[in-house]
Amino acid sequence: MSKKPKQMKGEVETTGHEWDGIAEYNHPLPRWWLWTLYATIIWAIAYTIAYPAWPLITHATRGVLHQSNRADVAAEIKRYDEANAPVEAKLVATDLTAIAANPDLVNYTQNAGGAVFRTWCAQCHGSGAAGAKGFPNLNDDDWLWGGTIEDIYTTISHGVRNTTDPDARYSEMPRFGADGLLEPAQIDQVVQYVLQISGQDHDAALASEGATVFADNCTACHGEEGKGDRSVGAPNLTDAIWLYGGDVKSLTETVTNARFGVMPAWGQRLSESDVRAVASWVHSRGGGE
Ligand code: HEC
Ligand code: HEC
Repeated sequence: MSKKPKQMKGEVETTGHEWDGIAEYNHPLPRWWLWTLYATIIWAIAYTIAYPAWPLITHATRGVLHQSNRADVAAEIKRYDEANAPVEAKLVATDLTAIAANPDLVNYTQNAGGAVFRTWCAQCHGSGAAGAKGFPNLNDDDWLWGGTIEDIYTTISHGVRNTTDPDARYSEMPRFGADGLLEPAQIDQVVQYVLQISGQDHDAALASEGATVFADNCTACHGEEGKGDRSVGAPNLTDAIWLYGGDVKSLTETVTNARFGVMPAWGQRLSESDVRAVASWVHSRGGGE
């Protein structure tokens, strides 16, 4: 340790600390830097006073401005709800079949129905409503349960084969293979017959045997000609549109173990106006009847 060495004119002042001949310059912090630091400290203190900042046990200090993003969002939602209330009331009061004739309601259902669809339906039916395996395409005119606005509304409102709504659409295809109702050979035959009536390559000999199997076991639901029956949600088997697949493997799986597509009852989760909006939106997609 040494005492502060003498300073020559023009030489930078040192702190007087020195180790092995190395002295420490005494550079003051640049003024601008210091003032910036003070400014940020003042700003930080002011901020914690003005805005929610310090965490407490159940909540944070609220700040003198009482700012709350949550309240802002709630207020905004309320504003939209209030703005939409009249048109929603009108939508609920209007006959389902009359909605399409009212431009205000059409405008509203296109926007609100589309938003409901993207929020609640797209994960199963696809963002463009084109469906996926087991989840029907809602854009086409091939309907399991019916394509009028009333049919669509009922399907959406009560759902399909769910356990929560006693009015849900319900039907059950028998598990022909798993429950031993048909022999594996008969299943092969009826699968070939389904290939035939849907216009695909098939084994003619097996298919003609399959026609009998079909007449005995399948027509009750799928109809004499295999064109399906909407009252039991049985798909048309003669078109090229398949819910679960129209190849031999998928058809064999369907006949062996059956299928049991389930959709929730949206009337239990969404407001009446939202159900009507999304029903109108689906109905307007091109397949609406
Ligand atoms: C958890 C998956 C799931 C969600 C979410 C879902 N659906 Fe479905 N939906 C299905 C299934 C599965 C079927 C087919 C049921 C069957 O096999 O009969 C179906 C059938 C339908 C049908 C009948 C189609 C026809 O051909 O008759 C309509 C209409 C429909 N859904 C609309 C909607 C709307 C609108 C929403 C959103 C509010 C929605 N779905 C949400 C699974 C879902
Ligand atoms: C009790 C009514 C009922 C009977 C009987 C029945 N089905 Fe079905 N079938 C259905 C229903 C309902 C569905 C739709 C299931 C779903 O959507 O989950 C279906 C679906 C199918 C599918 C799937 C179609 C697709 O688009 O993927 C095939 C294939 C089929 N049935 C073939 C048959 C054959 C073959 C028989 C006779 C051996 C038969 N069904 C008997 C009600 C029935």
